[in-house]
Amino acid sequence: MRAKIAGIAHYVPERVVTNHDLEVLMDTSDAWIVERTGIRERRYVREGQGTSDLGLEAARAALDQAGLTPADIDFIIFATLSPDYMFPGCGVLLQQKLGCPTIGALDVRTQCTGFVYGLSMADALIRSGTYRRILLVGAETQSMGLNFTTEGRDMAVIFADGAGAAVIVAGDDDGPGILASVLHSEGQYAKELWMEVPTCLAPSTRMTEMIAEGRHFPQMNGREVFKHATRRFVEAVDEVLEKIGAKREDIALLVPHQANKRISDAVAERLSIEPARLVVNVQRYGNTTAASIPIALSEAVAEGRARPGDLVVLVAFGSGFTWGATAIRW
Ligand code: COA
Repeated sequence: MRAKIAGIAHYVPERVVTNHDLEVLMDTSDAWIVERTGIRERRYVREGQGTSDLGLEAARAALDQAGLTPADIDFIIFATLSPDYMFPGCGVLLQQKLGCPTIGALDVRTQCTGFVYGLSMADALIRSGTYRRILLVGAETQSMGLNFTTEGRDMAVIFADGAGAAVIVAGDDDGPGILASVLHSEGQYAKELWMEVPTCLAPSTRMTEMIAEGRHFPQMNGREVFKHATRRFVEAVDEVLEKIGAKREDIALLVPHQANKRISDAVAERLSIEPARLVVNVQRYGNTTAASIPIALSEAVAEGRARPGDLVVLVAFGSGFTWGATAIRW
């Protein structure tokens, strides 16, 4: 049996934040941000709107598209690096908000690669016969945790909020569905893109001191991330193609994690993927981490860019480092 995507949808908060809005808060410019990242605007939540709320909106839309209700879902997978709480995870909050029965809910913590990891888990759980209908959500609320001063500008201009969701169901062996996935990690680079606090390595009594030192803001070595990302994106695409016996020219649509436009362009060039076969929406949403692939896929599908029978490849890289790719027959 093959696991197929029966519904794919997204939700982004209403508040649009342009590069010019950020110029007021820190020493940056629209020209710098556009040239280095391709980003023109992004969405931020309103205070009190959490990652599980964004996920809820996307999940409802994906369920509608699949013609299913929350009662039909067997299992929830929720990918995020910005959960409402340190614990419990967003999966259980979504179970309650959707009104699902007491089904299992798993949180995935592989950052920008979270949706690809989650899709691979959903695929395995469905093909093994464990579950028949899985709700996979990738959602982020990063705007609440960024450092909006000049010190934090490298990350503040890139990361943003949003959610995407997919309903994965059991399908026919030779019909549309997930063909293969590849997943990787390399923890020696954990601190090249990370957030240290809150941490369990120090007593909670030291938390105030650590926050005063700014150690609760995410940190990134942009150049190192860029270098590894461009290499790993290409490797993961080639690896998943090899697994299914396909070639680069067989890809009808490549949906890369929307890290930054320069990375997507470099990857597309190395893979010889022309713009018509590449999904890019980072200019409107910024980098929404685990939400970026489902948002991009949802928009591409709504625009009719994935046709029945097409080979669609998703590829991601992010903090960890983690990276991976999934090949889907649409
Ligand atoms: N506005 C203006 N200047 C900025 C800035 C901003 N938002 N952010 C950084 N700068 C400055 C730096 O402080 C540096 O100044 P200096 O030369 O006086 O020290 C200068 O711009 C160049 O910084 P550098 O880091 O060399 O720029 P870059 O060309 O590498 O671009 C990134 C920075 C972050 C855009 C780039 O490294 C990148 O895209 N990395 C990958 C990030 C990413 O995609 N992460 C998510 C992966 S999932």
